Amino acid sequence: MKNLHNALQLKQLYLLKQMGYRYTDIKPSDLEPDPAQLPNDLENLRKMVEKCHLCDLSKSRHKVVFGEGNPHAKLMFVGEGPGATEDSTGRPFVGRAGELLTRMIENVLYLRREQVYIANIVKCRPPGNRVPTPTEAFTCRPYLLKQIELIRPKIIMTLGATAYRYLTNDETPISRVRGHIIHTDNYLLVPTFHPSYLLRNPSAKKEAWADLLKVKELLEKRG
Ligand code: URA
Repeated sequence: MKNLHNALQLKQLYLLKQMGYRYTDIKPSDLEPDPAQLPNDLENLRKMVEKCHLCDLSKSRHKVVFGEGNPHAKLMFVGEGPGATEDSTGRPFVGRAGELLTRMIENVLYLRREQVYIANIVKCRPPGNRVPTPTEAFTCRPYLLKQIELIRPKIIMTLGATAYRYLTNDETPISRVRGHIIHTDNYLLVPTFHPSYLLRNPSAKKEAWADLLKVKELLEKRG
């Protein structure tokens, strides 16, 4: 992931060169939102993200999908990025994958959707539902990190490979990390499969269900 980030920084420097810069003291990271400069409350953060034009996804989006749910949720889900239904409604996980996620929350965790918080790595739809590029993911990541800082969940479940990779900067395949309980300074991370993957591969549901049951137990233990 470090290599990927370096390659990305190099790409941004080449871009500046093409624009005519011979010297710059702009660090490529200056092109990403600075977490320290982001609002310290979710509503103002939402307003800022809704006006974001820092990457190309802003050109084709219809609505920014900031995230929704309990601002004090103990459990947070992080997906990859909005699909067509999310782009037209401005709400995360409301298409077919979202219906499955809602059933997972209600039928396995015995929670209501409103009790958890649901967000994505990127807040705008990648055209054609492609995987977000590293530039898009790293540009948007500070918004997600600020959401996590403000909500302070005890547990985060990442849904699928992209969410795990960009939240953790770890490129271990999802098949190897899913179901593990990863201790971080501020929360426990439990990666699992993406609901879209489960729709295509129903036989993997039993593993995802087991991951959810682990989370249910952790929530009960940690109040
Ligand atoms: N897939 C995601 O990763 N996020 C959504 O919001 C919807 C589908």
